[in-house]
Amino acid sequence: VSPFLTDSFGRKHDYLRISLTEKCNLRCTYCMPESGVPLLPRDDLLTTDEVERVARLFVANGVSKIRLTGGEPTVRKDLLDVVSRLGRLPLTSLGMTSNGIALKRKLPALVDAGLTHLNISLDTLDPFKYELMTRRRGFTAVMEALEVAQGLKSKGLKTKINMVVVKGLNDMEVPDFVEMTRDMDITVRAIEFMPFEDNRWSTKKLVPSAELVSRIKQVHPNLSKLHDPHSDTTKTWQVPGYKGKVGFISSMSDHFCGECSRLRVGADGGVKVCLFGPPVLSLRPLLRAEPPSPSTDEHVMQQIGAAVWGKKFAHNGLGGPDGIARDGKMGSMVGIGAAS
Ligand code: GTP
Ligand code: 5AD
Ligand code: SF4
Repeated sequence: VSPFLTDSFGRKHDYLRISLTEKCNLRCTYCMPESGVPLLPRDDLLTTDEVERVARLFVANGVSKIRLTGGEPTVRKDLLDVVSRLGRLPLTSLGMTSNGIALKRKLPALVDAGLTHLNISLDTLDPFKYELMTRRRGFTAVMEALEVAQGLKSKGLKTKINMVVVKGLNDMEVPDFVEMTRDMDITVRAIEFMPFEDNRWSTKKLVPSAELVSRIKQVHPNLSKLHDPHSDTTKTWQVPGYKGKVGFISSMSDHFCGECSRLRVGADGGVKVCLFGPPVLSLRPLLRAEPPSPSTDEHVMQQIGAAVWGKKFAHNGLGGPDGIARDGKMGSMVGIGAAS
């Protein structure tokens, strides 16, 4: 990793998340209001060429993992083109986080084009609750996409399910998700509910991962902890004999900022050095600068380097969950280029 992608705490950033759009075809209650999020003017979105250039620049400086996010990345018309172009870069993983609604048809071509990792958001196994949580129909489509993803394992695709756990709503379903891992070679991850503007977060709706682990242990006393790679946000466990794994993302109860290796580029080219902070640099004017303004790769990288150097140690300096809840006025997950 080049000095440009190293911060003042010595953290090396080799994982880039690129949001392709803030549009989404669902309206998950924990993510955004029914009315959706304000959309960017079309011209403000990075073009296919610009996304490719940004990816190349980061890769040339040490990024080895890229994840495409949204909004919902499948909403973007040039998704296959983006994946094919990034698929030619020297990456160890090219991932996408998607709600799965439109994946059944699109997934095989995406995998052929170079997609290696897929995280599908699925919070419930109950079709009625699905509609309640997402404010849209689509449960069957997601389950079908999951099946297609399973079939693509032979082509190297690794699939995870992301389940955002909201107390009283779907936390009682965690054991059912665990049972899915008996025959399916997937990782099911329970994610702690995080506060964002308009998502009615409260500590009362948070189930700490540790509590979920102890609940699962009542059914599976020999649940075993697996080794997690450095800088992974997930703590992974497995029920002995089961094909798949169970993971926990404890962003609220046990933050993992010390090992953070992530940077984000928003759909409009805004660079974020922390999930819990605003964009600190806009790449768009740099990428679009007309001569004689400089838009050389070196100039762009210097700007990115300065942004990375300014990264705070933890949670953007908000001081943990309380600070985030109080001050985390950062729009929804889509707005911050994290969700899908
Ligand atoms: P993997 O590469 O499969 O580990 O993907 P990921 O978990 O980084 O990405 P995904 O898009 O599936 O995000 C799942 C959850 O991870 C989100 O809901 C967040 O809770 C959490 N997450 C992702 N990135 C960050 C981050 O930079 N900081 C924090 N605190 N949480 C994050
Ligand atoms: N808390 C935790 N995770 C969330 N996601 C969206 N909103 C929240 C929230 N408030 C999840 C999505 C997707 C992942 C990228 O982020 O479900 O799986
Ligand atoms: Fe990294 Fe910020 Fe997320 Fe912490 S909160 S893991 S520093 S992006």
